[in-house]
Amino acid sequence: MNPFVRIREDIDSVLERDPAARSRLEVFLCYPGLWAVWIHRVSHALWGWRLRLPARMLSQIGRFFTGVDIHPGALLGRRLFIDHATGVVIGETSIVGSDVTMYQGVTLGGTGKGHGKRHPTLCDGVFVGNNANLLGNITIGENSRVGAGSVVLSDVPPNSTVVGVPAHIVYRNGERVLITDPHEIKDPLSDSLIALAGRVEELEERLGGQRRPAQQFTAEEAERTAYHEELERLRQYVSMGEGI
Ligand SMILES: CC(C)(COP(=O)(O)OP(=O)(O)OC[C@H]1O[C@@H](n2cnc3c(N)ncnc32)[C@H](O)[C@@H]1OP(=O)(O)O)[C@@H](O)C(=O)NCCC(=O)NCCS
Repeated sequence: MNPFVRIREDIDSVLERDPAARSRLEVFLCYPGLWAVWIHRVSHALWGWRLRLPARMLSQIGRFFTGVDIHPGALLGRRLFIDHATGVVIGETSIVGSDVTMYQGVTLGGTGKGHGKRHPTLCDGVFVGNNANLLGNITIGENSRVGAGSVVLSDVPPNSTVVGVPAHIVYRNGERVLITDPHEIKDPLSDSLIALAGRVEELEERLGGQRRPAQQFTAEEAERTAYHEELERLRQYVSMGEGI
């Protein structure tokens, strides 16, 4: 495809997605996220021609001017929009589909443990909020949304919204998803929560026969309060010298 046609397509997609964008000229001149993508197209071509060092150097020059660090090996689809640009990192084996939007501070990174394909794959239409970290060889399904500040460590099905650290699904196919089982939280603390829930259940079972109805506690409390009030009234009566 003619590179100028692609540039025009990129600019038009920004005008569609960013309400702050007013004209093609403004988008061309003021959107470093787009410059980063254009520089990447050249560095990726160099990488493909096995000119690895020039490719890396060009991507670093791009990083210097745009604040976006895209490894020349990463595969980017059409109409990628990186809004605000600063601090975005896209690792070597990342694959980004078409019509993806991401904000400043997003990382498509490795976990530091893997080799080979070790960065995320984002399918078409994915939206990634600012400062989200997507780590490892995971796949974010088509049209899914990742909340700002989330840390995503496992695959996300298509048409879902994930939020949190670690991220969990809050919407799937337009339906709200509520977590009812602590196993689904996948938090380092979830094992403790599961153990605690089991212990509470066990204690409740043990206490089952000895439970007292709530109204008994309320009546006892009322009796105690009345007793203390009466005691206080007598104390004041005696201190005023009006007692016996
Ligand atoms: C994730 C996001 C896309 C979800 O939007 P949405 O579909 O309208 O979802 P809702 O606002 O209904 O939120 C659903 C639940 O997730 C929670 N949630 C939403 N975003 C969250 C986030 N980033 N982190 C943690 N929890 C979040 C909400 O509190 C809500 O929980 P509750 O129902 O228990 O109160 C949106 O919140 C978001 O993070 N957008 C990123 C915007 C961004 O990066 N802007 C940068 C501008 S410079």
